[in-house]
Amino acid sequence: MQVIASLEELTKARQNWPRAGSLGFVPTMGYLHRGHLSLAQQARTENATVVASIFVNPTQFGPNEDLARYPRDLPRDLALLEGAGVDVVFTPEASAMYPPGFATYVEPTGTLAERLEAATRPGHFRGVATVVSKLFLLVGPDRAYFGQKDAQQVAIIRRMIADLNLPVDLRVMPIVREADGLAMSSRNAYLNPEQRVAATILSRALEAGRVAFDQQRNAGSTSPEAIAQVRKAMERALASESLAALDYADVCHPDTFVPLDAPTAPALLAIAAKVGPARLIDNYLLRADGSWDVGVRVGK
Ligand code: PAF
Repeated sequence: MQVIASLEELTKARQNWPRAGSLGFVPTMGYLHRGHLSLAQQARTENATVVASIFVNPTQFGPNEDLARYPRDLPRDLALLEGAGVDVVFTPEASAMYPPGFATYVEPTGTLAERLEAATRPGHFRGVATVVSKLFLLVGPDRAYFGQKDAQQVAIIRRMIADLNLPVDLRVMPIVREADGLAMSSRNAYLNPEQRVAATILSRALEAGRVAFDQQRNAGSTSPEAIAQVRKAMERALASESLAALDYADVCHPDTFVPLDAPTAPALLAIAAKVGPARLIDNYLLRADGSWDVGVRVGK
């Protein structure tokens, strides 16, 4: 496995990558967990060459967010990526990605870039869209792999690929969960043992939302009140955990993030809450065919 830190070296290395076969790309911010590894493993099965990046992107963090303390462990990450069969890891410095005078951003707009994560984290998706565009241009992938846990990020990247005619096939892999349902996240490292137990409330609230959604759907409800009931089911569940503070519980269209006004497919149940020092997000996806994607639980 080749580890490349400089942009110039990456450009040179690209000339030696096999011309035949596709290139799969897995962008990450490091501190890898099994969710990231599922992306790398899927990329390995689908491509001749697999490139991953590790870059804690400063432009997607707000001034009061956790950029400085975001967990990092490069030696461990490199060993995990090597084990997953990745060919090249790109680990640029912030000063190379954003040199002095940097002034050009990719700015998502519209409902998708205004609600939920965007409302709580102003500028976040501008930073994500900008760095993902830059990484796509530097790496030149045929396919790029993202996790469904960041559902709004996935929708924004999908929109960006379509709007900017980027020749990249977006591959989205299911949420990987701990055995007790907690969605894997690098930020779970912030939780102490008590908070770690409490954090399962996010997936339990989504489960309550799913049950309420299916009840409303099976009863043939078509009114906005049905959606209010689903939201309330999630809010009630979340409120039962004193260590968790709800940011939002929402029912929306998974591509546009426009709130739903009836329990129809496709739909996204999305939740965000603070548990101790960690702000956590999670979601359940109701696909267009009416089946649920609730992610996959893995054992200890
Ligand atoms: O999902 C992430 O880890 C980041 O937002 C990404 C896509 C690597 C961009 O910095």
